[in-house]
Amino acid sequence: MAHFSGRDLIYVLMLCSAVWFLIMFVQLESCRGGINDHQPSSLVTYRKALAAKEKEIKYLREHADSLNRRQHVVGLPTIYIITPTYTRPVQKAELTRLSTVFHSISNVHWIVVEDSDVKSNLVVDFLKDCELNTTHLLSVTPPDVKLREKDPNWLKPRGVLQRNTGLAWLRSNLNADFNHGVVYFADDDNTYSVKLFAEMRDTKKVSVWPVGLVGKLRYESPLIEAGKVIGWHTYWFRNERPFAMDMAGFAVNLHVILENSLAKFDINAKRGFQESVFLQALGITLEDLEPKASMCTKVLVWHTRTEPANLSNEEKMEMKGYKKSDSHVEV
Ligand SMILES: *[C@@H]1O[C@H](CO)[C@@H](O)[C@H](O)[C@H]1NC(C)=O
Ligand SMILES: *[C@@H]1O[C@H](CO)[C@@H](O)[C@H](O)[C@H]1NC(C)=O
Repeated sequence: MAHFSGRDLIYVLMLCSAVWFLIMFVQLESCRGGINDHQPSSLVTYRKALAAKEKEIKYLREHADSLNRRQHVVGLPTIYIITPTYTRPVQKAELTRLSTVFHSISNVHWIVVEDSDVKSNLVVDFLKDCELNTTHLLSVTPPDVKLREKDPNWLKPRGVLQRNTGLAWLRSNLNADFNHGVVYFADDDNTYSVKLFAEMRDTKKVSVWPVGLVGKLRYESPLIEAGKVIGWHTYWFRNERPFAMDMAGFAVNLHVILENSLAKFDINAKRGFQESVFLQALGITLEDLEPKASMCTKVLVWHTRTEPANLSNEEKMEMKGYKKSDSHVEV
């Protein structure tokens, strides 16, 4: 009678598993990768399709960001957005919020005007990275008109000289024969719906719409009767201001701006009168205004204000012997 020792049994088991491995390996090889003659043709087709899909997924992963962005559309009027900005802890967050919206609209040219006599690294790098058509300008507000830290923000008009610098750039770089579009003043602390830009795109002269959370009201708005602007839903200087609306509440056709080359904002204008000063200088009347946003019944822009950052613990960190935040980290 044959006698199997434990060791023999192990040898047999090893041999069996080796054979099993070999069989599996051959099967696996024939299933894998490249096209081979023994495969049924449907399998070949399937593998080819799979390989193509895999390539596509890889491409989509790599290009996901740029695919989200709208492309330049030939013949579509450009929206020239003029944004005054100034250095402060929340600046990059504000610019980021704006650029995210601008990425979702086609044919936009963003003119960013810094209140400074030198271009800040933060804004230079931000605009380089943001993959929009941008122009970076400077216009420093002289100290005698600038707000001091503790002044209420209505004391002196903000962004006035910066908007004028933006207008001057349009007039010296664009030509009514070649450039068509609309100009919008977008402060960096407001919140804009993508839909707002579709509303303003076909502005003939000046288009208008409501602005949310402004003038200590839920919203301010042009008053409409029979499709025409007849007055203003506002509290401040309701009857004194010819155009009693916020800077965020209107857009102007580029040609109107180019044809009236002297029209600009006035640093000495009375509080709340900037919009009126500018539109009057453009020769605009109530009759010219084009109500948008479903006859001024929809709010597509909000006068939000970001709370100033409180960084008082940075100093306290030092007092406690902790390291302050790394100044090389851009915030
Ligand atoms: C920027 O503008 C140019 C010319 O108007 C256009 O060809 C280009 O596609 C635009 N780029 C983006 C990212 O919109
Ligand atoms: C920041 O917060 C501290 C208390 O945490 C407060 O004493 C200080 O006044 C605040 N600073 C500003 C500028 O609001």
